[in-house]
Amino acid sequence: MYSTAEQRDLYDLSKKLLYTPQAGLPGADAETRVEDLRKVIRYHEWRYYVQNDPVISDFEYDQLYKQLETIETAHPELITPDSPTLRVGKDLTETFAQVEHLTPMLSLDNSYDAEDLVDFDEQVKKWCKLPKETDVEYCVEPKYDGGTIALVYENDRFLRAATRGNGQVGDEISANIRTLRSVPLQAPFSKYGITRAELRGEALIRKDIFEKINRKREEAGETLFANPRNAATGGLRMKDPREAAARGLEAFIYQLGYATDAQGKNILETFSTHDESIHLLRELGFKVPLHKPAPHNHLEETKTCRNIEEVIAFCQAWQDYRDEYPYEIDGMVIKVNRLDWQAMCGFTSHHPRWAMAFKFKARQATTRVRDVEFQVGKTGAVTPVAKLEPVPLAGVTVQNVSLHNEEFIRTKDIRIGDQVLVERAGDVIPYIVKSLTELRDGTEREVEYPKYCPVCHSKLVKPEDEAIWRCENAECEAQVVQRMIFHTSKHAMDIEGLGESTIVRFYKLGWLHSIADIYRLDYEKIAQLEGFGEKSAANMKAGIEKAMKNPIYRLLHSLSVHHLGQKASRLLAAEVSHVLDLKDWDLEKYQDIKDVGPVLARNVYNFFQNEHNIELLQTMESLGVNMRQTDADKKTDVNTDGPLYGKSILFTGTLSRMTREEAEKRAAAAGASVASGVSKHLGILVVGEKAGSKLKKAQALGTVEIWTEAEFLERTETA
Ligand code: IVH
Repeated sequence: MYSTAEQRDLYDLSKKLLYTPQAGLPGADAETRVEDLRKVIRYHEWRYYVQNDPVISDFEYDQLYKQLETIETAHPELITPDSPTLRVGKDLTETFAQVEHLTPMLSLDNSYDAEDLVDFDEQVKKWCKLPKETDVEYCVEPKYDGGTIALVYENDRFLRAATRGNGQVGDEISANIRTLRSVPLQAPFSKYGITRAELRGEALIRKDIFEKINRKREEAGETLFANPRNAATGGLRMKDPREAAARGLEAFIYQLGYATDAQGKNILETFSTHDESIHLLRELGFKVPLHKPAPHNHLEETKTCRNIEEVIAFCQAWQDYRDEYPYEIDGMVIKVNRLDWQAMCGFTSHHPRWAMAFKFKARQATTRVRDVEFQVGKTGAVTPVAKLEPVPLAGVTVQNVSLHNEEFIRTKDIRIGDQVLVERAGDVIPYIVKSLTELRDGTEREVEYPKYCPVCHSKLVKPEDEAIWRCENAECEAQVVQRMIFHTSKHAMDIEGLGESTIVRFYKLGWLHSIADIYRLDYEKIAQLEGFGEKSAANMKAGIEKAMKNPIYRLLHSLSVHHLGQKASRLLAAEVSHVLDLKDWDLEKYQDIKDVGPVLARNVYNFFQNEHNIELLQTMESLGVNMRQTDADKKTDVNTDGPLYGKSILFTGTLSRMTREEAEKRAAAAGASVASGVSKHLGILVVGEKAGSKLKKAQALGTVEIWTEAEFLERTETA
């Protein structure tokens, strides 16, 4: 259909159209741009609908489509009958019988934020000639991301099924649809006076079933499906219905598109709302979006909203819930509930004006790898990082993505200059799904892994049992800075007012060479710095002085010994009265501690055998940093994963739902340490009834969080 070279050109052209402005196009420019847009849209539709393998994200496709629509609205003389805006998609599959839909299957207009929805609501009121203050009722349901289907029933029997095709004509896929158990082969339409009906819906594969299918394919050495939608649309087109059945497809029905009685009279008009027709379909045995949450859901699948504000809130709730839902959805669909109002809104040639899709933020995008840099971490690990052409993705701009290690780059075959598909699911850090190798033009370069540290140039080594190359020079500038950043971080010394950018700045000024220098900063000089002042210098001083009194488990953790985490630091702290006692320990002594393995033992042992490190700690002690075991260090059964880990807490007043003892136990289980009085070290004060002086003192300090008993119970629920 398209040669590789053509595909490359079309891809480049798409990117050019997406990222070069179009405002104020003079006549001739508009004409070329319209032609270019049509060319690339047709190509992407072919990739998406026929090949099931898109090369740009849905969001980018929508943007191209919108551009074309905008220019066509401004220059109606440029509209041609074959424009993609007039006849969406072109069915290019020749192996299935073609059937005509009883009414055209249109598309949906897209919206992306609350403002778009408010505009939509205003438009609806205009078309329905309603005063502005009228509330229009809308049905809102998930926008299922699978394969669109149309089912025809005649005389209470399933007659045939088709794909959407070009909207007028689709592929006949009855044999495959018959295998779906969610599609009834008989349904009592005649009870409601309906002789012939066409239903619209979406065939989907549940996410967990999709994963199983892919696992099986992997075991069998077959290529994997990119996502559940591709597996579903592919399933609908299987030649052998048994293969379609094996995909575990389900059909959700979301619209009664056509209904006539024995005389051929349209009886859709006898319904007064969309809601009512969906209830009927449910009665008839179809799978429809539910008003009541199914057992696995927190949110109802569909809601009849009283006005656009309720619509917006419901869409936003679903945006957050999306990842927990068992099926892939890419947005919500909003439909005017009253059918007489729908009729007043009418249609464009592309979409009904009474409906709107609310698209969730895109989670995938394509962009180019500009370069690969190598970053050195606090323990010397060298991590490759891809520098991308900045691309918006699910609410943030992505330009740096970790490539983890050499193995990752090789198996994904990522090269500098490659176009790559980037994904960001839920809260997950963005990552590269694949490189689009078919778009290469020969100028791409293989990533060359450095043999020497990019910062200090010492030779890198790769320990046998690790996947990562390391710089072993502890004095390497990159490591020194990263160690200082970690030292002050929340999990380590927790120094307020001294963050990453300040450390880098002080380092460049020559004020910081090692972590000991943090404890001899010149606050007068800091106060003079641009962006600082007396107040922030004083805050930093208070933060550092507070950290000097930290229990020693924090200090041990803050030293960046490889593999020495929070938990092991606590185990060690409980065993020594002074940090420097560890310089006299032999290897076995470390290994005698339960939960300390041989690798960690060796790392800590080596650290305390190194003279530089001992000097460093001695200097820190002379500057006032605590090295002696505190009461907090004697407890090793602390829940370091608990919601209150690292916080000190105190209870005051009369608690009504538990005894003081129970409360303290619960706090400890959540990882908190229980304090004996109010001081500036206190993190949280939980206040019962008749609280007195402690509350006043805490309020006066202004640094203590004050919680009610109910809040405490809520915040420790998972403990
Ligand atoms: S209603 C007349 N409702 O979205 C148009 N469509 O761009 C009626 N889709 O391929 C469409 N979930 O298959 C509607 N709850 C839903 C939907 C839905 C998914 C699909 C539809 C079509 C595309 C429209």
